[in-house]
Amino acid sequence: MNTLSLDGKVILITGGLGALGLGIVHRLTHAGARMVIGDLLPAPKAKEILKKNNIPVHACEYLQGDVSKPSQAKELVDTAFRKFKRLDIALCHTGIVLVGDLVDFSEKDWDRQITANTKTAFLVAQAAARRMIKSRIKGKLIFTSSWVAHAPWPSIGPYNTSKAAMNQLMRSFARELAPHGIRANVVSPGIVGAGMAKRQWDIDPVYRARAKRAIPLGIMQPLDSVADTFHFACSNMSDYMTGTILLADGGCSLYPMD
Ligand SMILES: NC(=O)c1ccc[n+]([C@@H]2O[C@H](COP(=O)([O-])OP(=O)(O)OC[C@H]3O[C@@H](n4cnc5c(N)ncnc54)[C@H](O)[C@@H]3O)[C@@H](O)[C@H]2O)c1
Repeated sequence: MNTLSLDGKVILITGGLGALGLGIVHRLTHAGARMVIGDLLPAPKAKEILKKNNIPVHACEYLQGDVSKPSQAKELVDTAFRKFKRLDIALCHTGIVLVGDLVDFSEKDWDRQITANTKTAFLVAQAAARRMIKSRIKGKLIFTSSWVAHAPWPSIGPYNTSKAAMNQLMRSFARELAPHGIRANVVSPGIVGAGMAKRQWDIDPVYRARAKRAIPLGIMQPLDSVADTFHFACSNMSDYMTGTILLADGGCSLYPMD
C-alpha cells in the first residue's frame, strides 16, 4: 500500500526560501525527504531562515543562484547527485508577480515576468529530466502554477499568462517523458494567506475587497493546505498521475469575481 512517507526521496525546490517554499520544505523534510533548496540569498542567511522555520538543516543542501540561468538550473540538479546520489522529484517553484494593465505593460517587464515564472520552470525541469533519463530514474516534475491560469485576475495579465503557459509546458513534458516513466504535474494554489497574495492583501484595500469576493470557501488558503497538496503530489500516492493540474484553490476558479 502506498503511503505519504517520503523516506529515501531526494527533492529539489527552487524559490525554497519564499513563504510557500518554506512551508513546503518544512512539510516534505518532516515527512522524510532530503532536499536541495535553491534561492537568491547567500548561504549563511538561508541557513538562518531554515533554522528559524524549524527545518532540519542536516536533511538539506542549499544553493544560492538565479535559476533563469541554465548553468544554475543544471548546478542544482548536479548538487542533488553530488550530495545525495540521486534526484526523485524537481519542484519548479520560483515566481514573481508584476502588477500592471496589459496596455501599459513594458516589453522589459513582460520579459522579466515570463522569464521569472515560465523560463525558470522550463530550465529546471529540462535539467532534471535530462539527468533522470540518463540515470533511469522514474521521477517526477512538479510545477507551481496558479488558479489565475484559469480565471485571469485583473491587472496581472502577464502573470496569468506565465502560469497558463506553465500548465501547457507541464502537459508537454508529461507527454514527452511518459515513455521514460517520468511524471509531470502542476500544483495550483489559490489565494494563500502567505507570500505574494498576503503581501498585497496587507497593503492594498482594493485587492483585499476583491479577494474576499473571489474565494467561495470564504477564507484565504492556509499554508498547510498548500503543503498538503505538495505532500500528496510528492508521495507514492500520486504515482499514476501525469499531465494533471491539482487545483487546490478554495473554489476561486469557479466563477469570475467582478
Ligand atoms: N502566495 C500565493 O497566494 C500564491 C498563489 C498561487 C501561486 N503562487 C506561486 O507560488 C510560488 C511561490 O510564491 P510565494 O507567494 O511563496 O512568493 P515569495 O515571493 O514569497 O517566494 C518566491 C521565492 O522565489 C525566489 N526567486 C524568485 N526568482 C528567482 C530566481 N530567478 N532564482 C531563484 N530564486 C528565485 C525568491 O527569492 C523568493 O524566495 C510562485 O511561483 C507563485 O507564483 C503563490
